[in-house]
Amino acid sequence: MPDSLPHREEEIRTLARILITSLKGDTPSNIMIYGMTGTGKTVVSKLLMKALQDKSEILENQYFSFFMDIHSTFMPTWLDNALREAVSFLGIEELFGREVIRDIFKPVKCIYINCQQMDTQYRVLTQIANRLTPFNDEDRLPVSGLPMDEVHSRLLGKLDSSDSLIIIILDEVDRLVFKSGDDVLYTLTRINEELSNSRVSLLGISNNLHFLEYLDSRVKSSLGAEELVFHPYNANQLRDILKQRSEEAFYPEAIDYDVISYCAALAAQENGDARKALDILRVSAEMAERDHSPKLSDIYVRQAQKKIEMDRVNQVVRTLPLQTKLVLYSILQLKLGGRIKTTTKEVVETYSNYAQRLDLTVLGRRQVVNLMGELDKLGLIQSKVISFGRHGRTTVVEANVPSTEILNNLHNGILSRLKGIRPRLIYNTSF
Ligand SMILES: Nc1ncnc2c1ncn2[C@@H]1O[C@H](COP(=O)(O)OP(=O)(O)OP(=O)(O)O)[C@@H](O)[C@H]1O
Ligand SMILES: [Mg+2]
Repeated sequence: MPDSLPHREEEIRTLARILITSLKGDTPSNIMIYGMTGTGKTVVSKLLMKALQDKSEILENQYFSFFMDIHSTFMPTWLDNALREAVSFLGIEELFGREVIRDIFKPVKCIYINCQQMDTQYRVLTQIANRLTPFNDEDRLPVSGLPMDEVHSRLLGKLDSSDSLIIIILDEVDRLVFKSGDDVLYTLTRINEELSNSRVSLLGISNNLHFLEYLDSRVKSSLGAEELVFHPYNANQLRDILKQRSEEAFYPEAIDYDVISYCAALAAQENGDARKALDILRVSAEMAERDHSPKLSDIYVRQAQKKIEMDRVNQVVRTLPLQTKLVLYSILQLKLGGRIKTTTKEVVETYSNYAQRLDLTVLGRRQVVNLMGELDKLGLIQSKVISFGRHGRTTVVEANVPSTEILNNLHNGILSRLKGIRPRLIYNTSF
């Protein structure tokens, strides 16, 4: 994790304010963070949680007040500052006086759950319970097999076993809801009603802005009590992020400011994603190192961008179902044969020939067109309807990916039997 997070100071301050209110021991509110991929949602939440937990441990173990400990060496000053600001914002010191502060802050425990991995109600609830249980304890819940009401009551017991504030981060929570419905959120948003000692606060993270609309209205108003949006970074912000990260990772003479700006500009064009920007910089540095090049230049950055894009496409292609692969395969073979643009008719015909050769079920035209729609959504092909006036309309299809490389990737498993078999180009096309 980086030491500091440039251009997220405001978001950190806001989150800290909300969470400090929770620390005070009132019924805490839940928070939803939204933002596109690579906007720092996960890293900000994790860093802040760590800071809160560290603070809480200091409070608990060493009997320090929040304020006496302001120059703590336990965490970076910028985080300290954010917390201090949040505390003074609330005016807690004036309100209660220093001595009682320790008493009104409950110990904090933070539990981070990635809902892409923990994607059912059972898994999420047992995971929370087990995070509150020592590793070798016999009382840990099994990964499957218990009835839900037992999971529920044992979770309640664990949560309520000490007088603390438990912050549960549900990262990528939209995936959990789309996979398993909102029962688990219903349970968690109401759990405070059943607790007498502890308090639970939820921090949901999603990159789907409309995700709350899919929820039961009670869950929706509870989980979305506070909302925070992380906006994509612009090129200048990405440049600062890369600069700071590269200072941690490179010798200053190995990297030019221009190269950093170039990486930032490329990533800014692609939705302001910091992960993408860091990936481009990392892969280009690896390439330069492999060449024993003392300096990282634009050429490596361009190569790196190409490589990352090809890796992404190959990854998508590898996971396609067989019939969809075969439709893509047909379009790419047509492209290799000179048809930069082709028609649905030609794709269907080529596909049918290949499917017969492989003894696969031959899908009908409509099904093939549906699969082409899927490929279009994934950005692998592009189809467009062209009108010829009174001569009717036709759909023109074009592959968005390089044919040779992707065909090589597709030539394994059953499709390798098609190697060297060219499609027949029978139609006259002019578009
Ligand atoms: N302001 C920043 N300063 C330094 N590094 C950052 C900053 N924002 C993001 N990063 C880095 O960029 C990468 C992506 O960030 P993060 O994982 O937090 O994104 P995210 O919003 O959670 O994306 P996703 O929606 O895909 O999960 C991480 O390596 C993170 O450390
Ligand atoms: Mg994330």
